[in-house]
Amino acid sequence: MSIRILGIESSCDETAAAVVAGGREILSSVVASQIDIHRKYGGVVPELASREHLRRIVPVVREAMEQAGMKLEELDAIGVTHGPGLVGALLVGITYGKTLAMALGKPLVGVNHLEGHVHAVFLEAARAGRNVELPAVCLIVSGGHTVLYEVNAEGGGGKDEPGLFRYGRIGQTRDDAAGEAYDKVAKLLGLGYPGGPILDRLAAVEIPGNVKGPRFTVARMKGNSLDFSFSGLKTAVLYYVREHGEFIPEIAAREEAIAQGRRKFEEILPLCSPATLALVRAFQESVVSELAGRAFAAAEQRQAASVLVSGGVAANSRLRAEFESRGAAAGLPVYFPSRALSTDNAAMIAAAAYPRFRAGLHADLRLNAVPGLKLA
Ligand code: KG4
Ligand code: ZN
Repeated sequence: MSIRILGIESSCDETAAAVVAGGREILSSVVASQIDIHRKYGGVVPELASREHLRRIVPVVREAMEQAGMKLEELDAIGVTHGPGLVGALLVGITYGKTLAMALGKPLVGVNHLEGHVHAVFLEAARAGRNVELPAVCLIVSGGHTVLYEVNAEGGGGKDEPGLFRYGRIGQTRDDAAGEAYDKVAKLLGLGYPGGPILDRLAAVEIPGNVKGPRFTVARMKGNSLDFSFSGLKTAVLYYVREHGEFIPEIAAREEAIAQGRRKFEEILPLCSPATLALVRAFQESVVSELAGRAFAAAEQRQAASVLVSGGVAANSRLRAEFESRGAAAGLPVYFPSRALSTDNAAMIAAAAYPRFRAGLHADLRLNAVPGLKLA
């Protein structure tokens, strides 16, 4: 019987629990999203997030155990995210994880949320029967993070046995995360929260009348830095909207629609002019080219054998297509998690806990929340 680990995730606005066998087989994965609670504030409100995690954690874990068809006593270990993230939110998962581990007499493993996102890629590859080539360059791109790592095998693994990884940080955002840029631009355009999914779909719509949008340039970094920057782009969108007064009425109309709960894509699309569609597309092209350009430059610089992309923004269809085509051109395999595994979940936490559990890297009851926890 392979080792079965319960993963618990509560670092931001998703309360999640999952059971993963052998570090790679998902037996259950439950995610309770708080989007509806934070939506009216246009972003995650930490106090509300903690309170909601407290309310959801017990039923979410219970459901994950039920879906896996297991009793808590049958678990081999419990893995819990201990950072990075919101301190109050993290503490809910950590406290619950510790309590379970103590009550059941099972080992507890502290997991770095970012390492979870890396493992999401490996979970998906295992599902597809693919073996990820290392060393890899991994882009983690979400609402809270935009960072590039080199991922190497640290040893301890085997053919079907995930081992520990060693990470090196290659680049990171100097200001906003890419997902944050999506969310801020969506807010500015009266498109609600979160911004990524709707901007993704609007950017793909054929623009009537061949209307041309602005051309945003990709931020340049000094030297050969592979850092990212998105605040300049966000400001450029803001100025563009300010300079074009004709955007104001349609922004107001969309805000009104969303306030009334009409936020489905089909309801919002008729409220978007060709100029808005062109603007959204220009924004997205700029984000995608910044992300893909740096990731493939890093892969070349490090002579990586593959490119991995994970985190909420990895769900973006244009981003996926761009990485696929650059990967094909460079002869590099590209790996993404499914959309469900791209955004925050606990299967990735249980998967990341596995090699740590095997290596005896168990936590004790002093495990604490580390809001700024680094991977490298
Ligand atoms: O990984 P995640 O669920 O939570 C964080 O750890 O931040 O990522 C959420 C972020 C949000 O900023 C959201 O707008 C963005 O991912 N996102 C997308 C898409 N789906 C979610 N961004 C672009 N395109 C998408 N399809
Ligand atoms: Zn995340």
